[in-house]
Amino acid sequence: MLGRLNHVALAVPDLAAATAAYRDTLGARVTAPQALLEHGVTVVFVDVGNTKIELLEPLGEGSPIAAFLEKNPSGGMHHVCYEVDDILAARDRLKASGARVLGDGNPKTGAHGKPVLFLHPKDFFGTLVELEQA
Ligand code: CO
Repeated sequence: MLGRLNHVALAVPDLAAATAAYRDTLGARVTAPQALLEHGVTVVFVDVGNTKIELLEPLGEGSPIAAFLEKNPSGGMHHVCYEVDDILAARDRLKASGARVLGDGNPKTGAHGKPVLFLHPKDFFGTLVELEQA
């Protein structure tokens, strides 16, 4: 069921500063910032060849990463995203095995325009897991 690592997401308090650090200090290719209102974040992707790093900054009221940044004011790893071929089949299999799917259980459209779901971190050893239909 589980495919490639699509990205590792880092929550950051200052997206412009984090983007500059990856682009200028580390010499990485970065995308333009993308505001994802439905997800309450602004994202920049860093291309590291074999995968991507997703830099996340809170957007709007009640951003899902606001509480995370309160606990981790300098930022930190927020989630990992794995690819799956069929997100609904993956969801049903996970639910049948007792894993908790966050939200209403229906996929939302992610930053790449593809359906995504998030799985409860307590079911995966303290790490928030995102699944994206490849
Ligand atoms: Co993500």
